[in-house]
Formats: sequence, C-alpha cells, structure tokens
Amino acid sequence: MGERCGPFAGAVVLITGAAGGFGQAMAKRFGDAGARLVLADRDEALLAESAAGLDCETVLLSGDIIHEETSACLVAAALDRFGAIDVAINNAGIATAFKPLHEVTAAEAEQLIAVNLMGVIHGMRHQLPPMRLRFAETGRPSAIVNIASIAGVIGANGLAVYAAAKHGVVGLTKSAALENARHGVRVNAICPTFSPTAMVTETITKGGPDVDLLAKGIPMRRLASVEDVVEAVLYAASPASSFITGQTFNVDGGITAG
Ligand SMILES: NC(=O)c1ccc[n+]([C@@H]2O[C@H](COP(=O)([O-])OP(=O)(O)OC[C@H]3O[C@@H](n4cnc5c(N)ncnc54)[C@H](O)[C@@H]3O)[C@@H](O)[C@H]2O)c1
Repeated sequence: MGERCGPFAGAVVLITGAAGGFGQAMAKRFGDAGARLVLADRDEALLAESAAGLDCETVLLSGDIIHEETSACLVAAALDRFGAIDVAINNAGIATAFKPLHEVTAAEAEQLIAVNLMGVIHGMRHQLPPMRLRFAETGRPSAIVNIASIAGVIGANGLAVYAAAKHGVVGLTKSAALENARHGVRVNAICPTFSPTAMVTETITKGGPDVDLLAKGIPMRRLASVEDVVEAVLYAASPASSFITGQTFNVDGGITAG
C-alpha cells in the first residue's frame, strides 16, 4: 500500500504495453499511489501475470494497438468501469536490432510505423474526446503521456525507422498539446535513452553491442533505469506539472545537452 491520499488517489490511469518493462513498473507505481488502472497489452498471459501482484482496482484488456478497435475498446472499458480517464499513457512499442536503413525490409518498416506511430495516433484519437468532454462539463483536467524516445529528438544510428516513428510521436505530442491547451488536456512525451528492458536486452542489442558499450555513448556512463523513466512519467502525469504541455522530457543522462 502506498500514498493513498496523494495526487493519484482514485485517479483512472490507462497504460498500453502494460506487460513490458516500463509498463509493469508504471502500473505498480500508479497502483501503489491509489490509482485505478486500465491495462492493455498484446501479450495476454504476461499481462495477467504482471497484474497479479497489483493491489488496486484493475481492468485488463488484451489487444494489438495497430488495430484502431483496440484503442476504442480500451477507452470504452475505462469509461464503463470508472466513468472517466484522468491519465492515458501510450507506452506500447517495438524495436528491431540495429541495422542500416537500406537493409530494413518494407514489412519491418511498416510494422514499426504501425505500432509506434499509428498505435499512438489511434490511442490519442480515442482518449481525447472523453477528456475534453469532461473538462467542458466539470472543469477537471487530464493528461496524456506518450512514451517516445531520445530517438524522437535526435537521429539514431541503426534505428532509422524507429527514430522516424518516435519523431512522429513527438510531433503528435506538440500538436495535440496546442489543440488541447484550452480544453483541459495536457500532452507531453517522455524521451528515454536505452534502458535495460526486454526491448534493449533481447531485441535492439541482438547480435550487436552489449549494454556496457551502449552506456559508453551516454555522458553519465550508464543506461536509464526503469525507475528514472517512471519518475518522469509520474511527474508529467501529475498536477505538479499542471502548466507544462507539449514538452519532451529527455531522460537521457545528458545526451542532448551536447
Ligand atoms: N527500453 C528502452 O531503452 C526504451 C528507450 C526509449 C523508449 N522506449 C519506449 O518505451 C516503451 C516501452 O518499452 P519497454 O522498454 O518497456 O519495452 P518492452 O518490450 O519491455 O515492453 C513493450 C510492451 O509493449 C507491448 N506491445 C508491443 N507491441 C504491441 C502492440 N502492437 N499492441 C499492444 N502491445 C504491444 C509488448 O507486448 C510489451 O509488453 C516503447 O514505446 C519503447 O519504444 C524504450
């Protein structure tokens, strides 16, 4: 049991990719803070397993975010069960092993764009209307937090299509922030550097550099911890950042300072 009277006590928090490294940790942290959770992932078994330890009200939904109906169902499930959405975290994403753009197949590129960019577009298109409506009716604000990447801010050698999709997420974030600034919805993006989740340890570094080598490219000489990323998500989602919208939070150990 955590801070049940803090800013997230009773808040409805929707998280995609909730069975993954960042998603599981966010669910635990928001749940401990008293939030009610709507969790989605395409990996049904892992989602059920990871949610089993949560001590809060939780709705689980399995589905692939490349299909618009997954986003529609997720929002409908949140509204049916809890009546509103306070925070939506568009976190589900995929990567491939490092390889130059000319070696990426069209099918790989299309899948990366479908999940990492279209998935977020579908999600936001369904999350925004009920958030705007509630603000118009009650004055209660909400927040969207998109998990982009430092590859959404600067180029990524060997991850060109991933970077293209994540730059797209940053563009979406800024534009939606402008569109919704007077409608009670803040929209921000978290842009982490490499962090040791399955995405990095099992996919991006497959057949390539190990984690120690990746750390050498980061001024602080370590990867982002999952906690580093989750803390930034909590801040972007909380009323503590109520005047901050359309921003990228670079959780990057100093990379973009140079
Ligand atoms: N780990 C890193 O180094 C890093 C750095 C920057 C940004 N990110 C971003 O953080 C987010 C979370 O990544 P992670 O590191 O936790 O990876 P992860 O692989 O541990 O988790 C990703 C989760 O998303 C789910 N998912 C993937 N495609 C999906 C789809 N089409 N529909 C529904 N669910 C789907 C997976 O099943 C998995 O549970 C991603 O958007 C990723 O691009 C990660």
